[in-house]
Amino acid sequence: MRSLIDIKELTVEEIEELIAVAEDIIANPKKYSEVCHGKKLATLFFEPSTRTRLSFEAAMYELGGNVLGFSEAQSSSAAKGESVSDTAKTVSCYADIIAMRHPKEGAPLVASMRASVPVINAGDGGHNHPTQTLTDLLTIHREKGRFENLTIGLCGDLKFGRTVHSLISAMARYKGVKFVLISPEELRVPEYVINEVLIPGGCDYVEVRSLEDYIGELDILYMTRVQRERFFNEQDYIRLKDTYILDGEKLKKAKSDLCIMHPLPRVNEIAVSVDDDPRACYFKQVLYGKYVRMALIMKLLELSAD
Ligand code: NCD
Repeated sequence: MRSLIDIKELTVEEIEELIAVAEDIIANPKKYSEVCHGKKLATLFFEPSTRTRLSFEAAMYELGGNVLGFSEAQSSSAAKGESVSDTAKTVSCYADIIAMRHPKEGAPLVASMRASVPVINAGDGGHNHPTQTLTDLLTIHREKGRFENLTIGLCGDLKFGRTVHSLISAMARYKGVKFVLISPEELRVPEYVINEVLIPGGCDYVEVRSLEDYIGELDILYMTRVQRERFFNEQDYIRLKDTYILDGEKLKKAKSDLCIMHPLPRVNEIAVSVDDDPRACYFKQVLYGKYVRMALIMKLLELSAD
């Protein structure tokens, strides 16, 4: 039995396979409509979510399965002081697979050690978010047709943005990828990402402050929200929240085939007028998240449509 806690647990070949299945689901959705008949997914969300939870639920329904769970810690026994381990053991009695989001780094890992069914990390604090990365990879694959030889700019809150950490881990394995890490000084990528991923991977990366100076070099621009809930002090958040706002003016310098991504929710970092730009890919990304999660649920439950 396998869980998914960190994107690095999947080999490059397994990621390719998941993407191929997701592409096949997009082309032949009917073929997959009964694959999870009689199976249940539990979504245990101790932190707010729209896309991740609903796309997991939609994914399970489209596979013919069922869903149970909770969407806030207050409505679960966590409010009475139950541990993550006990919750995971309990839910293993009712569900075949668990997707868990938790504000504490490592909570889904602990759950996976106690659960008797696969656990998927649906975001743990400011740490990792592997299924958002699968979504991002499917988007990059569909938009660019490759993972190699791309210059990817990651912009905004690179410190607390868990989607950024997982995406860097995944992309660092491909040849010719150049990372442009764009953030204010206070929100630079954590040292462990540099020391454990970028340096050992021999990756080409630069840490910079200005989006304008680098936007023209990028094939992909991954914008992120400043993660208010992870700040210790509201004043710092207010000072930093609008550091980057992508708008039509800044995009004048960008390549004509730039792929603009964002894990969403957006607060202020992309002007709404950019939504109509053909380079905006963030709402496509939302849709792709459902298909790749369908592929992942099938993989972890060891089910196939054939
Ligand atoms: C992200 C998350 O929860 O980390 N959202 C998502 O899952 N699509 C990004 C964010 O909250 O900023």
